[in-house]
Amino acid sequence: METTVRDLMTSPAVTCAAETSLAAAAQAMQTAGTGSVVVTEDGKVAGILTERDLLQATAAASRPGGEPVRLWMTARPDVLGPDERVDAAWASLTSHRYRHLPVVEGGHCIGVVSLRDLMRVARIRPAAETSEEVPAGLEGVVVAETTVGDVRGMQGFFHYRQYSAVELAERRSLEDVWHLIFEGELPGAAASTAFAETVRARRALPAGLSSLLPSLAGRGAPLDVLRTAVSVLGAELGWRPTHDIGAPELHDQAVTLCAVVPTILAAAHRLRDGHEPVVPRPDLGVAANYLYMLTGTEPDPAHARAIEQYMILTIDHGFNASTFTARVVTSTGADLGAAIVAAIGALSGPLHGGAPSRALDMLDAIGTPDQAEEWVRAAVRDGERIMGFGHRVYKTDDPRSLLLRSVAESLGGPLVAFSQSVERTTVDVLAELKPGRKLYTNVEFYAGVVMHTCGIPREMFTPTFAAGRTIGWCTHVMEQASHNRLIRPAARYVGPPPPQPVPPAG
Ligand SMILES: CC(C)(COP(=O)(O)OP(=O)(O)OC[C@H]1O[C@@H](n2cnc3c(N)ncnc32)[C@H](O)[C@@H]1OP(=O)(O)O)[C@@H](O)C(=O)NCCC(=O)NCCS
Repeated sequence: METTVRDLMTSPAVTCAAETSLAAAAQAMQTAGTGSVVVTEDGKVAGILTERDLLQATAAASRPGGEPVRLWMTARPDVLGPDERVDAAWASLTSHRYRHLPVVEGGHCIGVVSLRDLMRVARIRPAAETSEEVPAGLEGVVVAETTVGDVRGMQGFFHYRQYSAVELAERRSLEDVWHLIFEGELPGAAASTAFAETVRARRALPAGLSSLLPSLAGRGAPLDVLRTAVSVLGAELGWRPTHDIGAPELHDQAVTLCAVVPTILAAAHRLRDGHEPVVPRPDLGVAANYLYMLTGTEPDPAHARAIEQYMILTIDHGFNASTFTARVVTSTGADLGAAIVAAIGALSGPLHGGAPSRALDMLDAIGTPDQAEEWVRAAVRDGERIMGFGHRVYKTDDPRSLLLRSVAESLGGPLVAFSQSVERTTVDVLAELKPGRKLYTNVEFYAGVVMHTCGIPREMFTPTFAAGRTIGWCTHVMEQASHNRLIRPAARYVGPPPPQPVPPAG
């Protein structure tokens, strides 16, 4: 017999009135374990409010819980009849990009059907019948919804919340952008000061981690030390699974983690070099304090601002591998430390974050501007990649590279002039030898130049990237935890056909 909507729907539907507060509606959803609430008036369907609406409300307002459902619901949604067939319901949901539809009989709402309900039916069929082919590396596959930010590769544009990330880096401090990304809005003057005071007060290493760090620091690269130190931090501060804690507790942990990471990195670097760690200074901004803790001397303000701009530009960048990793781990309900340790692991690979010093190594290998053309030609002819050029998403100038090039220009110096000359030569040679591939500098080319010019040693390039990116990872962890569903995709089995008889042991 044909499966119908009635067989799958959740009944009765969770309902509320249009004037119910978002907080009460969210509570009702949570209690019932549903992803939507149907808004009724005189027993008739007036709207539907979904998890996605709640997410958007949370992102748009600083105190959304008190607002009425009416402001965020989809009014007069399409509805389904209980006797409609599942494939018709599927077509209706997917063609309108709905996640939930009310089921109506005799003018009254008798239930709700969701994509998730329909997927239950899809799942019992063999995978070959139901799943679409996905490209290798999940390129272009949408796996989540987010209000944190996005990348528009063809336009050379990326944004945090509703603002251009480049404009934010030009006009605001890292702490203000951190506030934007955590709280959903740019702070005014008073909130900016209050937020800076809060985060600066959390920079010190907890005692247990502080006493362990000297033995950790000698045992690996700074990023590996950070990975272990974040585990220690979470254990020392007693971080519990995100599944078991509320949003305020997770937010509090995230603020501490982002504040402490630069301190861990600077201390690990100094201990490795045989120096004592430098105690953080609350009067300095994030980047200035980071440079101060690395070197022990107060940095040139131009250097501090350059590193601050670099860190702002690299807080978040779409669903890159480490961000996705953090969200997958969070989706299991694991604690914040586990998610960030996993993200650091993903970032450490050379195809993700492990390459910024390679562009500088290449400039060393080229040596002088007059050797650039020959060097690049030979490398491309040998099938090598020119480090700091090309991008999976940007097929035009990488906006981060454009800003970092102007930051480098303002800092000046022989390395900057040399790198600009190598950039011009390389773009021309790549256009000739790889026509139509649209290969320009990516973030890593000028990131290395800027960091080097500001006195950051090469082995600290990727860790510095991680220090800013932790803010982005934590934001995604909070977003995932606030509307969680276990991320559990499927794989197509392509091995020898089962079941084969199991041979006896021996
Ligand atoms: C970033 C990167 C991995 C993106 O790769 P991608 O989107 O998968 O691009 P593809 O590997 O499909 O390359 C497309 C073509 O451009 C060429 N190409 C891409 N980047 C190149 C580079 N940096 N130098 C020379 N050729 C390059 C490839 O050889 C390929 O040519 P083909 O069509 O003749 O085979 C790649 O550009 C790269 O390896 N860059 C150098 C490393 C780097 O800077 N990494 C930091 C990234 S932020």
